[in-house]
Amino acid sequence: MFSRRIFRPLLALAVIGSAGVLSAGQAQAQAQSQPIAPDTMAARVQGCTACHGVHGEGTDNDYFPRLAGKPADYLYNQLQNFREGRRKYPPMNYLVTYLSDDYLHQIATYFSQQRPPYPPPAKTNVSASTLARGSQLVLNGDASKNIPACAACHGKGLTGMQPAIPGLVGLHSDYISAQVGAWKSGTRHAKAPDCMQQIATRLSDDDVTAVAAWLSTQTAPANPVPAPAGSLKMPLTCGSEPQ
Ligand code: HEC
Ligand code: HEC
Repeated sequence: MFSRRIFRPLLALAVIGSAGVLSAGQAQAQAQSQPIAPDTMAARVQGCTACHGVHGEGTDNDYFPRLAGKPADYLYNQLQNFREGRRKYPPMNYLVTYLSDDYLHQIATYFSQQRPPYPPPAKTNVSASTLARGSQLVLNGDASKNIPACAACHGKGLTGMQPAIPGLVGLHSDYISAQVGAWKSGTRHAKAPDCMQQIATRLSDDDVTAVAAWLSTQTAPANPVPAPAGSLKMPLTCGSEPQ
């Protein structure tokens, strides 16, 4: 596990080096000819694929998330968050440091339009009662702790909502726990008011384990597109999701 986490990023950074050269040359050629061709975009994101998969489907590494099919503005907000330090993962922070808003937006749009298949639902070794707690929190919340249902914003099919709420299906449980943990500990921030920060701090560690385990065992719906903008009545205001 240790060696895999260390090795993969180094490999990826080597790939990014060469992709950077490629895209600079192509950008120049483009300026003289015509608008961006799809193969150029594929070259630009070559440095991303070692960690996120060729079509953004994710990899078997528990901490490398799926990007494909998440709403474009959600992905764009995250790329800005990495660039401006509201999220911290050094390889990501480094990669986007010098990229313009326009470039980040194009990359975000590209991954939002990818539709690779979802991985099969994960097997889990948590207890049946933990899974039941996870299901309860995601679908109904826990009024006694003022926790809204995750599905109220992330959708019944857990595919998110346009323009900026991500799907939670197809993510590894370790990734989900790490992200909710990052909100709890204050290393991940979204635009204020940061609804996820409010929700994360109401979840106990056992609750986080429960929601992450249950979410990772869910199957994506047949048509896994995010719900239309404004179609869900959100229980809290989120700065990143205009109402
Ligand atoms: C070295 C591996 C690695 C490379 C290369 C990499 N990423 Fe990431 N990326 C990650 C990890 C790990 C995370 C989650 C980090 C965290 O804990 O917040 C992430 C998170 C993201 C997110 C947020 C996803 C979400 O659902 O919130 C986006 C968007 C993203 N990466 C895009 C890119 C793009 C675009 C590139 C290429 C320019 C790229 N990444 C290259 C490892 C990588
Ligand atoms: C009030 C609406 C709302 C509710 C309720 C809500 N979320 Fe979120 N969630 C959001 C928004 C908005 C984002 C995107 C934040 C950002 O831009 O970083 C998000 C992002 C996330 C992410 C990051 C996904 C990724 O790819 O990195 C996770 C994980 C998550 N939510 C889990 C949960 C869980 C678990 C619950 C229930 C306990 C929940 N959310 C309830 C609005 C909500």
